[in-house]
Amino acid sequence: MELCTTIQAIRQARAALGTVGFVPTMGFLHEGHLSLVRQARAENDAVIVSIFVNPIQFGSAEDLSTYPRALERDVALLQQEGVACVFAPDVAELYPEGFVTQMSLGGVAAALEGTSRPGHFAGVAMVLTKLFNIIQPQRAYFGQKDAQQCAVVRRLVEDVNSPVEIITAPTWREADGLAGSSRNSRLTEEDRKRAPALYRALCHARDCVRAGEHRRTVLEAAMRSVLEAEGLTDIDYAMIVNPETFHTEGEIIPPHALALLAVRVGAVRLIDNMPLL
Ligand code: PAJ
Repeated sequence: MELCTTIQAIRQARAALGTVGFVPTMGFLHEGHLSLVRQARAENDAVIVSIFVNPIQFGSAEDLSTYPRALERDVALLQQEGVACVFAPDVAELYPEGFVTQMSLGGVAAALEGTSRPGHFAGVAMVLTKLFNIIQPQRAYFGQKDAQQCAVVRRLVEDVNSPVEIITAPTWREADGLAGSSRNSRLTEEDRKRAPALYRALCHARDCVRAGEHRRTVLEAAMRSVLEAEGLTDIDYAMIVNPETFHTEGEIIPPHALALLAVRVGAVRLIDNMPLL
């Protein structure tokens, strides 16, 4: 496996590979990331993984500075997974002095995470545009865990006519339902025990829909009460949206509606989602 830190090196390494499946990450890898890598391996000649904590998608300097990092461990894990190349540039490699271009997104990027974290998706779209241009993969893999990010990326490649095929892979969960996230490592022991309430709240909404409840506000309140019973009251959003638009539409939920949560568990903001069949 080759570890590349410059654009020139990764371009050269990529040129020697056939079809490439690309998995963009911010590192501190867990089973969720590795499940994307395994799917990419099965569907392409070679896999490239990027590890880059993208500063322009973070709202606060604090969140950026506390984002967990473990490059050496990540590289060892990816080697075991049979990855061809890791691209781990420093910030100046991707955003050199003089960099001025910005992106601005509406539509699916405007609601939920777009409201809670202004500029977040513009930063994600910028770094992915750059990474797609540098690596030129056939396919790029994203987790359903970040459902709105998947929708934003699909829109991005459509809008800029990028030839990269976007694949969405299922959310990997711990045995108690907690969705894998690099941020989980920052939960205290106590908070780690409360965190699966997000999954339970989503399952509860899904069960209510299966039992015939289709009123959005009733379902959203049902999710909140599961969270609040666990003492999780710092809720950014608990919403049910149309997965095409990521906006709420009236009181009766559409078929295939998506339930989404963003909740602060102690100092850590966690997100999760579930389709409500
Ligand atoms: P990061 O949070 O490191 O996630 C990298 C990829 O792993 C994303 O596609 C994310 O959805 C996926 N992922 C994370 N947890 C998962 C889980 N439990 N199950 C399945 N997939 C999971 O998302 C980003 O980085 C960044 O925004 C990035 C796309 C790299 C742009 O900077």
